[in-house]
Amino acid sequence: MTAVLVAYAGRHGGTRQIAEVIAAELGAAGLSVEVRDAADVAGVEDYAAVVIGSALYYHRWRPEAVRLLERNARALAERPVWLFHSGPCGPGAATHQVSLPPNVALLAARIDAERTATFGGKLDPATVRGLIPRLLASSGRRAGDFRDWDRIKAWARDVGRRVRTRVSL
Ligand SMILES: Cc1cc2nc3c(=O)[nH]c(=O)nc-3n(C[C@H](O)[C@H](O)[C@H](O)COP(=O)(O)O)c2cc1C
Repeated sequence: MTAVLVAYAGRHGGTRQIAEVIAAELGAAGLSVEVRDAADVAGVEDYAAVVIGSALYYHRWRPEAVRLLERNARALAERPVWLFHSGPCGPGAATHQVSLPPNVALLAARIDAERTATFGGKLDPATVRGLIPRLLASSGRRAGDFRDWDRIKAWARDVGRRVRTRVSL
């Protein structure tokens, strides 16, 4: 059985890369890991533990990640689940903690998910055009890569340790 699913949802690849780094750390810890776009996850029954991450857009999670939580709530409630989201860009991004959007908080409570991690995001000026740069700047966000890989890897190692203690593989 494949032990851990790492599912991600984003628009420009930044969250996928975080998911891949998390998966690599879990793999290095000896776990069997699959990384999937949340939109491509048909079910979670084959996994002993699940990590789900979404990019934040306008204070919300991506719909693919929300659907994954909704459609698999019962099976997710029977497994350890870790959530993360990625978004904050600009000053303080690395330490800024963002609360779950209310709809995701409800789902997280329903499945008894572990505490959510917030990771800085990546804003590529080439992908944000039109009015959006001004909107983002007015809320203090800046283009750049604010993902703290050391923090992300440390979080993943901690998840790996907890998976090992909670799940007999
Ligand atoms: C239109 C737009 C809206 C955004 N809204 C938020 C937000 O509400 N909160 C936040 O922390 N980051 C926000 N961000 C930053 C993104 O979450 C960040 O760029 C993230 O890394 C994108 O991930 P992705 O490359 O996987 O799509 C926004 C970015 C864009 C372009």
